[in-house]
Amino acid sequence: MVTARAPDGRPLGLTVNSFSSVSLNPPLILWSLSRQAPSCPDFCRATHFAVNVLEARQHHLSRQFSTPLPDKFGGVEFADGPARVPLLTGVIALFVCRKVWQYDGGDHIILVGEVEHYKYNEGEPLVFHSGRYRIATRHLRYCGMTRAGSRELGGSRQNCDNAPQGGPASPLDTVWVPVLNTRPSHATRRS
Ligand SMILES: Cc1cc2nc3c(=O)[nH]c(=O)nc-3n(C[C@H](O)[C@H](O)[C@H](O)COP(=O)(O)O)c2cc1C
Repeated sequence: MVTARAPDGRPLGLTVNSFSSVSLNPPLILWSLSRQAPSCPDFCRATHFAVNVLEARQHHLSRQFSTPLPDKFGGVEFADGPARVPLLTGVIALFVCRKVWQYDGGDHIILVGEVEHYKYNEGEPLVFHSGRYRIATRHLRYCGMTRAGSRELGGSRQNCDNAPQGGPASPLDTVWVPVLNTRPSHATRRS
């Protein structure tokens, strides 16, 4: 989920799976935005955005924010973060970014953000693969279990427990993790 604040103060949010890491130093990430999305002009004008990584049970939020609705944030718990960017409650990671580049990406616009604030909680991420919501499971090769359940590869069953547990606290209860950036800031460039 990417969120931002429109120039007129409205909260913006849409479900994305185009999120990707770009650089560690400076810390840069990207996502791509459909030119057809009703919220495209507002996202392109926003100076900051946040990537909210949904927890496995937050599939209803993914559906809500991938549907064009007049009030996308109806019934959704969120709080203002740095630069007044709306931050969803209960997510497992948050990246608050200053938008530094905007590139032409065909029928999408590629937005690159410099991570200014980052925090995370324990929890399992929501996965979207082959048109379905899923939960991530550890690879059999690395959790010590063969398909038949034997322990030929070493490791312990405890490490294979993939069920979402307990649920994370509000991301706002955790502290921001310092981000590494030893290089000067980029100027914002628009496409
Ligand atoms: C799993 C999933 C991933 C999506 N990824 C993207 C994406 O990366 N970029 C994008 O522009 N739209 C993506 N969409 C579609 C938008 O979420 C959807 O068009 C949304 O309604 C746009 O927000 P808006 O109506 O407020 O403009 C995705 C939808 C789903 C269900």
